[in-house]
Formats: sequence, structure tokens, C-alpha cells
Amino acid sequence: MRTQVAIIGAGPAGLLLSHLLHLRGISSVVLERRSRDYVERRIRAGVLEQGTVDTLIEAGVGERMLREGLPHHGIELRYGGAGHRIPFEKLVPGRAITVYGQQEVVKDLIAARLAAGGDLRFEVEDVALHDLESQPYVTFGGERLDCDVIAGCDGFHGVSRPSIPEDVLTVFEKEYPFAWLGILADVAPSSEELIYTRTERGFALHSMRSPTVSRFYLQVPPDARLEDWPDERIWEELRIRLESVPGFTLATGEITERGITPMRSFVAEPMQYGKLYLAGDAAHIVPPTGAKGLNLAVADVRVLTQALAAYFADGSTDLLDGYSEACLKRVWRAQHFSWWMTTLLHTFEDDDAYMRRLQLSYLDYVTSSEAAATTLAENYVGLPF
Ligand code: APR
Ligand code: PHB
Repeated sequence: MRTQVAIIGAGPAGLLLSHLLHLRGISSVVLERRSRDYVERRIRAGVLEQGTVDTLIEAGVGERMLREGLPHHGIELRYGGAGHRIPFEKLVPGRAITVYGQQEVVKDLIAARLAAGGDLRFEVEDVALHDLESQPYVTFGGERLDCDVIAGCDGFHGVSRPSIPEDVLTVFEKEYPFAWLGILADVAPSSEELIYTRTERGFALHSMRSPTVSRFYLQVPPDARLEDWPDERIWEELRIRLESVPGFTLATGEITERGITPMRSFVAEPMQYGKLYLAGDAAHIVPPTGAKGLNLAVADVRVLTQALAAYFADGSTDLLDGYSEACLKRVWRAQHFSWWMTTLLHTFEDDDAYMRRLQLSYLDYVTSSEAAATTLAENYVGLPF
């Protein structure tokens, strides 16, 4: 079997790449370890930057997102007994975010690929990458797929990044001393906009998926276990952290999904080796506080599509050679922003009284200075692609 681009992983990165390549007449096969049902149900983040929204619309997969996605023109930072709105319409006019679940993006992409006759293989076993420096090919479940290029879109735990010789990669990593417990609940959001809350008991986030479904996160210890967090404890803790301003009441409902996510930052450089190009979580991870993970994956895929289009048009390798460098600029900006939002809003056990006062002073600055608030807003809605 032969294709131009072998794509490992059917997350947002792999699926979008496959579709953008198809629109440029370039063939690909997507190899995914999990079932279609599994990837369509996997609950992840849900904030799309303007550039991501535009990319999905241009790719012809934006119809349902435009109908069901929720445009947001601001977020609230809540701390010290008061809420402070960061107004995007004033600080970054014409730019906003859209709240639309990542698994909905995945569903739309899978539907579009299948409608266009795309070759998606789910539940493939034992994917291995070979001959990355010359004539690459991929083996899986006893089959062999020859290709010109491999795109490693298989997330943080995939096989692509480990296929690169260790001495070629430089890895930058940071683990945070806490995790996020996330839930999805059948209840109307208690607020029209997202609320990022800093309290002495830790961070909490009120997000949403639709007019009848809310999404919440709680900062918990890194070794927290779901069995120690029965529904009542989750709601009680969310109430304490979110009902920290007068007049705000948290509506509760049936919890339909729950999970604990470790918080880490990670970058592997360069994002390419021979004929292998990494995109999305395979190359970099950010803590979810800045809502950048999915958006970075989309940005990588845009850069890779252009480079591959040039390569398959006339054999030119300039853009492919510069792929990693082109992506890493944005990746590191998002790394800083995500680390910054995380340190601004979480409680760190090791922090002494001095550090806690510094954090509050910085929050006061961000919520009172237009320049500081603009920095937050500009990064949150996303720098232009
Ligand atoms: N073989 C085949 N597929 C694999 C393998 C493997 N060995 N290992 C992992 N995969 C698949 C996973 O099952 C998953 O479906 O690769 C896919 C990777 O998808 P994601 O983890 O969603 O990563 P990505 O597509 O880069 O999406 C961007 O940024 O912050 C995050 O939440 C955000 O998941 C989103 C991501
Ligand atoms: C989400 O809705 O899942 C969400 C929103 C904002 C974040 C992270 C996750 O920063």
C-alpha cells in the first residue's frame, strides 16, 4: 500500500491535516490506535481561537461549529471577593473565541473525511515507523504503508516522537505540583462567560459546552483520585471557590463525565527528523489554563500543509526544512502564556506569604491596567496565524 503522507493519530491534528491535504490534492492515510467511537467521545478542552475557527470554516468543516458553537467576547478573573471582566471587544477589537468541544471538532472532521472518501483506519495495532532518513514506511497489524512523508500526530504518548534518535531531540519539561479534576454536568451555565477563579483553596474554572451543559475544573493535588471525589464533594468545593463574590449562585446538575488531568509543560525540539514531521501534542504540551493545546495543533497543521503543498508541487524543500522553526515561535509564546496564566491563578503549596501577595498584586495589575489586560486578551484570543 502506498500514499503520499502517512498520518499517525486521528486527533484534531491528524484529521485536520488529512483534510487540508485532501483539499490540495495530496493523498494520506490516517492510522489511529483507538476506535472511532472512543476518539469521538474523548472529552477535552473547548476554546477555539479565531484563527482555528477561520481554519475550520475555510476547510469546509465549520458549519455545525457556526451553528452550535458559543462566541465569547470576554472572560472573568475572580479573586479576592470580586470579579473582573477582561473585555475582548474593547482590548482586541474584532477578535473573540468560540466555545465548542474538541470532540465535536473531531466528529465534524471524521464526517468530512469519510464523505470525501478519506482513508481512516481505526483500531490499528503495533504502529511502527521505519527508514525515516530515506524511504519512509509505516508498519501496523501485519501491513506495510509506503509513503513520501510521515506526519506524527499521535499525541504525547504516541510512537512518533520516540522514533527519533534520542540524541537528536532536546526536551524541555515542567511538571506542576497539582492536577485538574474536570467534570461535565447537565446544568445550564451559571454565567454567560468563562470564570477563572483564584482562591486560597486553589483554582477553579467555570466553562460550558451548550446552553444546557456546563464544564468545570478544580485544582486538586497531583495524586488526587476520582474515588475520593464523590459528587457532593465536587459541588461543595466548586461552590466554595466560585461563590466567592456576592450574588453568585452555582447551579448544579447531574455529572455525566469526570476525569483528572496532570498539568505539565513540554516541548521537543526540533519538531522534525528526516521525513518525519511532528504536529500537536506529539511535539508539545501546555497546561490547559491558557486553552492553547488544540489551537497550537491547528497552527502546526497549517504550517505543515503549506510546506507539503510546496514539496509535492515542485519538490521544493525550503518550507519543509523550516517547519520546526516556523512552528516553535508560536509554540514558545503559548508556552509562556500558559505557564503565566497557571502561576497567576493557582495556589502553590511551597509559596510563602510573600509569593502569595506578589500573585495578588499581579492579578490587581492585570485587572486594572489596560496594557496588562490587553496582553492577556491578545494571547487568549490567539495571535494571528
Ligand atoms: N498509533 C496510532 N495512533 C496513536 C498512537 C499509536 N501508537 N498513539 C496515540 N495515538 C492516537 C491517540 O489515540 C489519539 O487519538 O493519536 C491521537 C492523538 O490525538 P490528541 O492526543 O488529541 O493530539 P492532537 O491531535 O495533537 O490534538 C491536540 O492538544 O492540548 C491538546 O486537548 C488538546 O488533544 C488536544 C491536542
Ligand atoms: C474547557 O471548556 O474545557 C476549557 C476552557 C478553558 C480552559 C480550559 C478548558 O482554559
